[in-house]
Amino acid sequence: MITARISAEDDFEGWRNQCRGLMRLGAPPADVVWQVGEQRTDLFASPEANIEAAPIGVPEGFAELARSVICHSDPERFALLYQLLIDLKARRRHMGDKADPLIRKLEMMAKNVRRDIHKMRAFLRFRRVEEAEGEEHFVAWFEPEHHIVRTNAAFFVRRFAGMKWSILTPQLSIHWDRKKLLEASATSKTDAPTEDTIEEQWKTYYSSIFNPARLKVNAMLKEMPKKYWHNMPETALVTELIQSARNREVAMIEKDIVPSVADTLATLHAKANRCRRCPLNGPATQLVYGEGPADARLMFVGEQPGDQEDRAGRPFVGPAGQLLDAILAEAGVDRTQAYMTNAVKHFKFRPEGKRRIHERPNVGEINHCRWWLKREIELVKPNLIVALGATAARSLTGRSLAVTSNRGQLFESLEGTPVLVTIHPSYLLRLPDAETSERERALFVADLQNARKRVYQ
Ligand code: URA
Repeated sequence: MITARISAEDDFEGWRNQCRGLMRLGAPPADVVWQVGEQRTDLFASPEANIEAAPIGVPEGFAELARSVICHSDPERFALLYQLLIDLKARRRHMGDKADPLIRKLEMMAKNVRRDIHKMRAFLRFRRVEEAEGEEHFVAWFEPEHHIVRTNAAFFVRRFAGMKWSILTPQLSIHWDRKKLLEASATSKTDAPTEDTIEEQWKTYYSSIFNPARLKVNAMLKEMPKKYWHNMPETALVTELIQSARNREVAMIEKDIVPSVADTLATLHAKANRCRRCPLNGPATQLVYGEGPADARLMFVGEQPGDQEDRAGRPFVGPAGQLLDAILAEAGVDRTQAYMTNAVKHFKFRPEGKRRIHERPNVGEINHCRWWLKREIELVKPNLIVALGATAARSLTGRSLAVTSNRGQLFESLEGTPVLVTIHPSYLLRLPDAETSERERALFVADLQNARKRVYQ
């Protein structure tokens, strides 16, 4: 084993020098142990790789990627980058290969680091501390996820060149005295001030201008991750203000959108579009209402729109919908004759870079949306409803039903309509092997044939 030591968590130059030495020695990645910080006395210490070596040429894009990844908090990053470097030099991998799992992993790490850098710039807040002789000193506390403080220091120096400031973090603290930047050890949050007079004035001003009609609460929430709220003076009031604003907003809107007996599917849809009964409307692109003949004899209820449904504004048009279409055809069910809808009408997701990852709606969200499903059922009056998956079964029957043990069985919706419970088509998309997939698909076809017979024969 060879120990490759670098001086600090974000020591890119140190890592690069060690790589040069290791490559000259021909050290395979598996034989290298990476360590950060001063050398400790260790009876069983391995030989240290500390060899000066000439620069090595690296493919375009690698150095930039490595500079970012070095700041990531994953202790494996040094080894992963060294592995990539070795493979690139041996032409086993190519920087342009976007499908390469190692390159993808490292690119994702670099992206997380860049995001953390951005968050520190956007959400760090200085608080004023008065020093002897009335000198002002601005102090901020920030908890980065990655080792980005040094990388970000130049930005704060440029941006606040004329102020004396300190940024305290659990990793290290940096201090600017208007001339030079100093670095000191980590601090604890209790060393950072929490209140100052400017903040008080700011909060008073902020609460007076806070008007949900002018300020989109959800847009603000999206921009300002909760994790940073406690460091920001203006957000000391936000939770309270948002809650009362939301209550006012919901009360106002609910008065306007309560379904009435005079509603048609179209007027109901228009009302549902303005629904704010749960927070899912905020991040979603649009509400996805049911579609199909107003007198359909068969109704399908899914869980919630997915990414593609959210963009298209129509239910079951994405991968699960396309699979459902194929299986409906196999079961002899004409989709155009059925009413297709969902238990929850907005797409619930968590962002991951540019992707939106589906998240299951919770019971509160299902219950809030039940209002709209109930009116759809009352208006369409289907003879049978097929519940696709557990969320639909829960919403329709009010019961928590395990789909695997209840599939193919009949229950009753809260309105008294027969409900046939079966799997959700996306379940088939997640199955690991062809054999299970075929078996489950055949059972699904049989459930849908059963539904067709009950309704049309
Ligand atoms: N999954 C659902 O449950 N509904 C849709 O509309 C699409 C995917």
